Amino acid sequence: MKNRHLYKDGPLVSEIGLGTWQLGTKWGEPFNEVEAEKVLDEAYKNGITMIDTADCYNGGNSEKAIGNFLKKYSEKFTVVTKCGRCLNPHTTEGYNKENITNFVEGSLSRLGLEKLDMVLLHCPPSPVFSKDEVFEALDSLKSAGKIASYGVSIEKVSEGLSAMKYPISAIEVVFNMFRLKPAEELFPMAKNKGVGIIARVPLASGLLTGRYDENTKFGEKDHRTTNRNGERFDKGETFSGVDYATGLKAVAELKALFGTEDLIPYALKWILMHDEVSVVIPGASKASQVSSNVRAAETPALTKEQMEGVKAIYDKYIRQSVHGLW
Ligand SMILES: NC(=O)c1ccc[n+]([C@@H]2O[C@H](COP(=O)([O-])OP(=O)(O)OC[C@H]3O[C@@H](n4cnc5c(N)ncnc54)[C@H](OP(=O)(O)O)[C@@H]3O)[C@@H](O)[C@H]2O)c1
Repeated sequence: MKNRHLYKDGPLVSEIGLGTWQLGTKWGEPFNEVEAEKVLDEAYKNGITMIDTADCYNGGNSEKAIGNFLKKYSEKFTVVTKCGRCLNPHTTEGYNKENITNFVEGSLSRLGLEKLDMVLLHCPPSPVFSKDEVFEALDSLKSAGKIASYGVSIEKVSEGLSAMKYPISAIEVVFNMFRLKPAEELFPMAKNKGVGIIARVPLASGLLTGRYDENTKFGEKDHRTTNRNGERFDKGETFSGVDYATGLKAVAELKALFGTEDLIPYALKWILMHDEVSVVIPGASKASQVSSNVRAAETPALTKEQMEGVKAIYDKYIRQSVHGLW
């Protein structure tokens, strides 16, 4: 496993991390502590040293499971957590000094840490990305030694460009073979400013594994059943905002391009081909997915033809419906 800096002069982390939105659960199913521990142990065994979480994942259970995991090992892991999505209603006003300080205290307690490696604003409403009070609060928490660094998780490229007016360390963004805009319009400024890129939803919610077809069934409460049109939250988080049937057509062409049914290592390696990316964070609902995903670390660099082929498939199937939205 190779390491990359999480941001300029930041800690070195494994280039493949672990996403924990679905830690210890299939999306929409109850949290299972034993399964969560198995997934985290598998990450450790496979050389993963970066974990992405959020205060709201599984009602705080994701952070608690990570806290227990951190106590088991003496090695250094870098944990990136997020705050804000527990707000109900989720408003711009809710992102204020008092709430942000409380969110950070809550994460510190659940993770069992004295200082967070990084906290991200968790896809707040767009005006938050230009709200001085929010970034001043984060600066105060840094000065107080509660957080080592901070950044933003964004839906739209424009939000990342706005946030870079402040001294953020990293941006978490949907980036995958079905979402090319960040590479074109966000990465150049991030590179210039030494801001790290955390690539989320790298498998387009599993679609880019190549394992789904028109008969695949998702759980009743799974967002891949309930959020295809953005009914619950931004639809860009579900299949990367790609219409399912269209996505399957594009996946069929990707399989032909790479000459395999198993797209996982190629989909993740494609992301790592972008030097601006600090870490890619595939989520795993079970331990075997973790070891399957780290194969990308040993996958040879993609060829120029493969990189151009991915772009051609994006241009043919995806660009028109996705590129303008995020
Ligand atoms: N707003 C935000 O900041 C935000 C939003 C979304 C995600 N995230 C973060 O990004 C992480 C990754 O995104 P994501 O989990 O939404 O999408 P993803 O990584 O693209 O897809 C994860 C899903 O793909 C399937 N999968 C993964 N590896 C597999 C394998 N080896 N074989 C077969 N299936 C596999 C699993 O589906 P099954 O569940 O069906 O097994 C898994 O739940 C999250 O865990 C979270 O930490 C952040």
